[in-house]
Amino acid sequence: MSYVARDDRPADKAERYAEVETEILAVLEGETNRTARMATLASMLSDAFPAYFWTGFYIVDPEKGGELVVGPYQGTLGCLRIAFGRGVCGAAAATRQTQIVEDVHAFPGHIACDSRSASEIVVPVLDSRGDLIAVFDVDSTEKAAFDSVDAACLERVLGAVFGADA
Ligand code: SME
Repeated sequence: MSYVARDDRPADKAERYAEVETEILAVLEGETNRTARMATLASMLSDAFPAYFWTGFYIVDPEKGGELVVGPYQGTLGCLRIAFGRGVCGAAAATRQTQIVEDVHAFPGHIACDSRSASEIVVPVLDSRGDLIAVFDVDSTEKAAFDSVDAACLERVLGAVFGADA
């Protein structure tokens, strides 16, 4: 039986993340505008991984403590605001820990923006002081699409792009 390489095997996935991280950092070199960086990251990651169904940011709203407001994203209509502690994004914001959810329909309080979403990963985005700027949310229509490889690679690229912000 011949071996067919699949691009979602963990080793290949890590390589693809490393490639796209290099591309993202090259495109963003010298760019200080945060909206431009968020939009570029969402676009390039979404394009690199066809399994990404919704890809984008929920930003900490400075005018409303404890609330996230939607930022740059790729995908179908996302909900506009999420309170800290609500759903998967709210859990990532409240705990500052990456959340991997294999089956969103089994997650208590999951916010169903699009019923086609089946699994998701949400990564907190921190600045140089360790303050929360936003969360980065990726949804897939496949169950259990994300694992510790996605978590490590996304934490690394988000740290590289936003971790020096003041
Ligand atoms: N699924 C998220 C809500 C945001 S959307 O999926 C775009 C959640 O429960 O946090």
